[in-house]
Amino acid sequence: MNILLTGGLGFIGSHTATVLAAEGHEVVIIDNLCNSQRQTLDSLESITGKELPFYEGDVRDAPLLKEILQKHHIECVIHFAGLKSVAESGTDPLKYFDNNVGGSIVLIEAMQATNVKKLIFSSSATVYGEPQYLPYDEDHPLAPMNVYGRTKLQVEEILQDLSKSDLDWSIVCLRYFNPIGAHESGLIGELPQGIPNNLMPYICQVVSGKLPHLNVFGDDYDTKDGTGERDYIHVMDLADGHAAALEFVDKHKGWEAVNLGTGIAYSVYDLVSAFEKSSNQTIPKVVKERRIGDLPIYYAKADKALVMLGWKAKRDLQSMCDSSWKYQEQLLKLAK
Ligand code: NAD
Ligand code: UD1
Repeated sequence: MNILLTGGLGFIGSHTATVLAAEGHEVVIIDNLCNSQRQTLDSLESITGKELPFYEGDVRDAPLLKEILQKHHIECVIHFAGLKSVAESGTDPLKYFDNNVGGSIVLIEAMQATNVKKLIFSSSATVYGEPQYLPYDEDHPLAPMNVYGRTKLQVEEILQDLSKSDLDWSIVCLRYFNPIGAHESGLIGELPQGIPNNLMPYICQVVSGKLPHLNVFGDDYDTKDGTGERDYIHVMDLADGHAAALEFVDKHKGWEAVNLGTGIAYSVYDLVSAFEKSSNQTIPKVVKERRIGDLPIYYAKADKALVMLGWKAKRDLQSMCDSSWKYQEQLLKLAK
């Protein structure tokens, strides 16, 4: 299929591009580079052995989107482009609503105008909010606790309403849990700008000597070792999940939301131990206050993805840490 990846040079989009290209799909990318780098395109081309058409542009640019959709005979769009900092979404909500919700509306309108009606949307487990029960299944009540999460829920709702108004649409909203890890080549991975907010990129910077120690946000939660537990999922498993969703939207119409997680919760200390093993280094850590807005534990019920998409995560925590470490080593070599 001819597929447009919005935000395709970002962390999840770039890994998904490798899987789709390997499956023989024609991948076209639009990204405004607000949280990614052009060099990722070179890495993608060396991994895939293909030249991938790339547009440096914004999903809020309707004429550009229409041009790309028509020129490349796009059949399906995977919409990764979005801003994802929970903290920044609270301090600058309009930026988040404009980019994440406004950007999605412009994209959907351009798709409708060009009769492209297959869409996979990057949603998040954050749409569920405070767990009423665990694991979260797709029927769990939706009550996001931050602006970022509300932008994701609003787009999901817009898409659901759209699919009711026009039965030709095929839409899957993928609710990602905590994607970490990197491509097995070590050529692409997660490249956050500034000091990372999330656990894995923070650990990577500690191990690379850029930050002195890991701050552990609370060790007094009611969890197995007192630290927060999350459903970490290898980004290459997530990429495979998109390939499975693509096959699904190609054959089914309507709207669906599907969790992409492993169904297993690991603690901060589990991740630290696994990364220490990968890197053969001790990770210095300091226990700090709980981070405001953090939940003690959450993880996915991953059954719907298996039944509906025939997809299941295959890679374990060690492989997530090994691949992240391999990518860090590559970055360290380049910096020398
Ligand atoms: P990322 O920041 O690495 O990638 C997003 C890409 O979109 C970046 O390359 C950025 O430059 C681009 N972009 C942002 N706004 C754009 C715009 N208006 N026009 C064009 N390009 C734009 O993030 P990611 O981790 O790859 O996440 C991809 C998607 O998945 C996002 O929508 C994010 O909200 C969602 N998501 C991510 C996670 C996670 O933990 N990484 C979890 C759940 C959901
Ligand atoms: C956060 C976002 C979530 C988003 C996800 C992936 C919040 C409240 N939630 O989730 O919406 O989908 O990132 O982008 O921000 N931790 C530390 N030290 C650190 C960083 C994290 O101890 O330096 C702990 C946290 O307390 C948590 C766990 O590690 O228990 C995972 O944190 P993180 O990677 O930020 O992911 P989430 O909080 O699950």
